[in-house]
Amino acid sequence: MIDRRALLAAVPALAACDRFASAQDAPISAPPLKSVSPAPFGTCIQAGHIDDPAWVALARANVSQLTPEWEMKMEYIAADGLNAPYRFDRTDRIVDFAQANGMAVHGHTLIWYSQGGDLVAGLSGAEFDRVFDDYVATVAGHYRGKVRSWDVVNEPITDDGEGMRDCHWSREYGADGYVLRAFEKAKAADPEAVLFLNDYNLENTPRKGAEFLRLVERLLKAGCPLEGIGTQAHLDIEIPPGQITSFIREAARFGLPIHVSELDASLRSEGRIDLRSDRERLAQQTGRVRELAVAFADLPERQRFAFSIWGLRDTDSWLRQGDKDDGKDSPLPFTASGAANPMAAAIASGFQA
Ligand code: XIL
Repeated sequence: MIDRRALLAAVPALAACDRFASAQDAPISAPPLKSVSPAPFGTCIQAGHIDDPAWVALARANVSQLTPEWEMKMEYIAADGLNAPYRFDRTDRIVDFAQANGMAVHGHTLIWYSQGGDLVAGLSGAEFDRVFDDYVATVAGHYRGKVRSWDVVNEPITDDGEGMRDCHWSREYGADGYVLRAFEKAKAADPEAVLFLNDYNLENTPRKGAEFLRLVERLLKAGCPLEGIGTQAHLDIEIPPGQITSFIREAARFGLPIHVSELDASLRSEGRIDLRSDRERLAQQTGRVRELAVAFADLPERQRFAFSIWGLRDTDSWLRQGDKDDGKDSPLPFTASGAANPMAAAIASGFQA
């Protein structure tokens, strides 16, 4: 006999599975993104992706630049400690893959407040200098001639935009001092790579964007070899129209190359009660993503460094990992099976506007 209660209970569950499908019924068509991008079009990559033929095919079709997602960070390179050889194996594999496929590599990242605290705990003075300088020189030196660019310092500004983050690096060298030192050492190790300062929420939180640009100004005045501005663009789809464009225009006033370095845009409402339909949320997402693509394409050509997404398929996204993932978010341009999401069409349409 059919259990009516079980059947009724199953209906909302089935509807939930299909949460964003209603807005995506019709197949989306989008051109290969690198073919319409006004600059190199990038994605992040993990070495394991190279063993996934579907990922490789999607990457070959759409991207011309790669950013290692985490295997080029201190957490992996120095995972065995400072007295053991650095681990370059996985990123070397990524670099070889990029070269074999005619793709550029963007290095990410040398000095980050969130990493390396364990390595320098208890050190100061000359010992600290040796660790800091050696890390930057060895890593940037290893990839000299192989990477196009580096995020030399990642995420220096506090979330509320009040100022510089306090971290193990700033405690030794001062708030701006550690940034200056990292850029100087990186420049010496790889004079050809374009050196970036990279941060997030710069469009989402105008106060933070403004504070980041004040840091850029101070660094340039101090003679820092800062050569590019990276805006991660983990977009908040709720921000008012125009806010992204304002930030990109403000950032452009230095005349430096700009890298949209980690674009994704979650459809989730982060626990807030949200009465909007899936279709409305998708419209907000594609609206903001398109705005970013238009603002980037409107930059003078010499300032369009690259436009990178933080993953190809929704299922590749860092926002879709772990226990909290409900399997429904669609923060990236491609579905799990590699079909275009509305976001892919929004990027292409923004580039072609
Ligand atoms: C994330 C990666 O996607 C994850 O795989 C990793 O575990 C944590 O870092 N800003 C950055 C990126 O600069 O390095 C972060 O990447 C996402 C936020």
